[in-house]
Amino acid sequence: MPMSRPRILITRRWPETVEQFLTERFDVTLNEGDKPMSVEAIAAAMADYDAVLPTVSDKLPAAVFAAGHLCAKILANYGVGYNHIDIAAAKAKGIVVTNTPGVLTDCTADIAMLLLLMVARRGGEGEREVRDGRWSGWRPTHLIGTKVTGKTVGIIGFGRIGKAFAQRCHFGFGMDVVFYNRSPVDPAEAARYGARQLASIDEVLAAADFVSLHFPGGAENRHMINAERLARMKPSAFLINTARGDVVDEAALAEALETGVIRGAGLDVYEAEPQVPARLKALENVVLLPHLGSATQETRVAMGMKAADNLIAFFDGRDVPDRVG
Ligand code: DGY
Repeated sequence: MPMSRPRILITRRWPETVEQFLTERFDVTLNEGDKPMSVEAIAAAMADYDAVLPTVSDKLPAAVFAAGHLCAKILANYGVGYNHIDIAAAKAKGIVVTNTPGVLTDCTADIAMLLLLMVARRGGEGEREVRDGRWSGWRPTHLIGTKVTGKTVGIIGFGRIGKAFAQRCHFGFGMDVVFYNRSPVDPAEAARYGARQLASIDEVLAAADFVSLHFPGGAENRHMINAERLARMKPSAFLINTARGDVVDEAALAEALETGVIRGAGLDVYEAEPQVPARLKALENVVLLPHLGSATQETRVAMGMKAADNLIAFFDGRDVPDRVG
């Protein structure tokens, strides 16, 4: 670590223990009010701080890196996804970008499972009914959902989170698991998660009773699930998205849910967070969570400590463990 402490800006409030850990080692500026920062404010910070620690609620397009001289040498992102950062523009300015993989795998897979169960068993509808005082008592035909055990789940993207989700579905709920992944996965490795690779997204969509998305957002995957792909799913099937909002065409999804192209959806992420389309909010057959995938005490602290590890390694002149750009 250099003699004078590097000046770092944390763009949102982080768990207190991590803020304290960083404060003991760096000259830290906190975002006391926890208000999202504008693109202009982040651009100004890039010219002023040695490191900026952004997260998914920030936007760092090319404009943030446009100034002639930038003081920031590293962006230690709080989160595994980094499609909110223009990595090429950061790279062109020699800025290192890191993320926090591994530590949010289980909790994100848990939220995917929660969404799957809630939408299949109509948990959101039931809770609203109880809270509104509309529940008139048990009856054989009340809020009839879809059985989960033994059904087929189709996973698109078989990285860490896709695998953890497969494991829960197969070993926890006796589900048949099929998946699509861009690169081939060793069948023996897939079998450890009770899963079997199919050749295309369309095959997975056609086979599955539940489709869960586990691949990154960004230009390359934008609207990967569109009207055409939704139409390939079974009319009785459900879509689960804990990845990024932009991988689903939200207007096409609303249409599909309104017209019975698919039975339901469980969403944790949206195209223009925190905005959630009124069309989705009006529907009973969709469960809507506010991007809670990694939101546990243990995981949020671990994410912060991972960002800290990257920062410390960088300013010590060592290789950063989680470089993405
Ligand atoms: C991530 O890490 O990318 C999550 O979406 C935010 O927790």
